[in-house]
Amino acid sequence: MLNIVIFGAPGSGKGTQSELIIKEYGLDHISTGDVLRSEMKNETELGKIAKDYIEKGQLVPDELIVDMLAKVLDSKVNSKGVIFDGFPRTIPQAKALKEMLNKRGTDVSVMLNLQVEEEELINRLLERGKVSGRSDDNLETIKSRLDVYHKQTAPLADYYIGEGKHVAIKGMGTIEEIFGRIKEAVNNL
Ligand code: AP5
Repeated sequence: MLNIVIFGAPGSGKGTQSELIIKEYGLDHISTGDVLRSEMKNETELGKIAKDYIEKGQLVPDELIVDMLAKVLDSKVNSKGVIFDGFPRTIPQAKALKEMLNKRGTDVSVMLNLQVEEEELINRLLERGKVSGRSDDNLETIKSRLDVYHKQTAPLADYYIGEGKHVAIKGMGTIEEIFGRIKEAVNNL
């Protein structure tokens, strides 16, 4: 199985590149952000709890996310592999993912770490906010998301370096250029 963790700051292109990777390699896609937004839209208990965190740019607590992820993963039984987008975001989440995959006789194949300059991240998210109406794409929440990313999520790169699974991908340039770099990395695995 090919299990890819696509990683990077808010706006680094995780969702955009995931769509291309899915088409190229026939993988399933799990985006924890998309699952949470759907829960919010359907006004489920989880959605109501998540809303407060998302609108402040904070992380939803690990226990809730890990439970949610396990349920979604159970629905991907005949998968060729999965692209994990927006998960893991903390060391406990990374350890939980390893455990869940190991139980299924598989593991993370690679972590692709998209590297994008901060000014570009902010510009991309402000542009998207104009059309998507995402409630967390406003300057104040974007700053909080970036701060949370640097403090809580970026240290995960070291965790995957330790596992020998970290590949840095330059995330600046056109979508096609970046996808070319991703394909090269994946095909070299
Ligand atoms: P999530 O939905 O995961 O948001 P994020 O990490 O902030 O990432 P984004 O979706 O904003 O950006 P992206 O990297 O996918 O970039 P995209 O391709 O869209 O999470 C939202 C919230 O949910 C979190 O803040 C947290 O509260 C909660 N949450 C989610 N997962 C969680 C977890 N595991 N634990 C706890 N809480 C969790 O691109 C951005 C824009 O740029 C788009 O408009 C795109 O068209 C454009 N773009 C992309 N590539 C390029 C390019 N090369 N050039 C120009 N524009 C580009």
